[in-house]
Amino acid sequence: MPASGGMPPGEFRESGHRFIDWVADYLAGIDDYPVLSRVQPGEVRDALGREAPQGGETMEALLRDFEAVVVPGITHWNHPAFFAYFAISGSGPGILGELLAAALNVNAMVWKSSPAATELEEVTLDWLRSFLGLPPDFVGTINDTASTSTFSALAAARERALPEARERGLARAPPGRVYTTAEAHSSVLKAAHALGLGREGARVVPTGPLRGMDPAALADAIDRDVTSGVRPLAVVTTIGSTSINAVDPVGAIAEVADERGIWLHVDAAYAGVAAALSAMAPHFAGWERADSIVINPHKWLFTPVDCSVLYVRDPAALRAAFSLTPAYLETGEQGVTHLMDHGLALGRRFRALKLWFVMRYFGQRGLRAHLARHVALARRLAERIDGEEEWERWRPTPFSLVVLRHAPPGVRGARRDALNLALMDQVNRSGTAFLAQTVIDGETWLRFAIGNIHTRAEHVDATWKALRDAVRAVAAD
Ligand SMILES: Cc1ncc(COP(=O)(O)O)c(C=O)c1O
Repeated sequence: MPASGGMPPGEFRESGHRFIDWVADYLAGIDDYPVLSRVQPGEVRDALGREAPQGGETMEALLRDFEAVVVPGITHWNHPAFFAYFAISGSGPGILGELLAAALNVNAMVWKSSPAATELEEVTLDWLRSFLGLPPDFVGTINDTASTSTFSALAAARERALPEARERGLARAPPGRVYTTAEAHSSVLKAAHALGLGREGARVVPTGPLRGMDPAALADAIDRDVTSGVRPLAVVTTIGSTSINAVDPVGAIAEVADERGIWLHVDAAYAGVAAALSAMAPHFAGWERADSIVINPHKWLFTPVDCSVLYVRDPAALRAAFSLTPAYLETGEQGVTHLMDHGLALGRRFRALKLWFVMRYFGQRGLRAHLARHVALARRLAERIDGEEEWERWRPTPFSLVVLRHAPPGVRGARRDALNLALMDQVNRSGTAFLAQTVIDGETWLRFAIGNIHTRAEHVDATWKALRDAVRAVAAD
């Protein structure tokens, strides 16, 4: 009988059942874990051996150490009171999709290296595109992260605006520039650096009162740059910024970019899936005019990390930036996609499988219901905050991120910042919830991000109460 991946089949089956049982128990009992890990720096490292064992060990021993050493060092993103960063969560079908993808262990670099992995990715991303109401000319590719997706989009934009760079590099090319706002995720600046544009290669465009990009200021910045010999590469807009969920007026910005023939990228890594809710349509007005859009199903579509989708209207632009085929990867089929041509990575995991499982298991109605539930929970929390005199909320709250702070009369500046950090710390240390902070105009606010599939009203209420209770505890300190 063949071994199951180097393991006797009977042992694989038995361990597999035990491990799946472990996962089922873990998810069923997730409320009982402290959300934020309590280990000290180095504690996990010290509990691990200095070298790999000379002889093999049993799966029993591995599971024991996983429970004893690894799990205490885990911050539980699955916990329903995980409200930090963006509250992402996997889901049953997503986890099982990962399991099967790991079992198949295919590498979908060219079509024939696994036809199903390529074609399932194409079809699943067409489903997702249609779910989000985007037109059919958008073609999707799955990457590991939004950082990679944005890098790929900007590489394609650079190729289009500075085609001479492919042969000669950037040294003799005119300076290229990307336009974005201070609200944009740091991955935009990182991509500009990695693409050789330097710090001057990204221009921060002023924003309006709600922190959306000012289209007139954008037009002015581009026109002045062109006059002085700069080559505009791309405008990077955001729908649902990381810090406060600001939304750029993408429609008006598309006018500016179109008139000047500049690539328009939309970073909707977190909020993009909300386009599936008709009530959210105003936030997405004009995004269908973009050249590229990034959306992370691993953020708010219940798909385990990692799964970031890059949609482009012209996949030939991605191929122009990335296609380079060594002899051993030459292949004769016509009319097929080779996913290696859509990004920097050659090898690629079969990430579409878990997304396909998630979309089929929940269905479009089920997914919309979860998203709408999260938005409703955020609205409810926002109302409660608004009903408290000594608390403030950053407005608006367009999606499911609520930004708030304790603002008692007479407490301002650094004292108010320290107070809010102390409240957050008190809640986080209690293990009952996990919140994160942000800074707006130099002032500290707390981010309460709702998006975990397990989160119910009671978790939001308990955390809101814990924050208010922390006021007394911090005052007593
Ligand atoms: C709006 C936005 N864009 C991009 C990113 C980067 O995401 P990733 O970790 O997938 O690179 C984030 C992360 O939170 C984000 O909020």
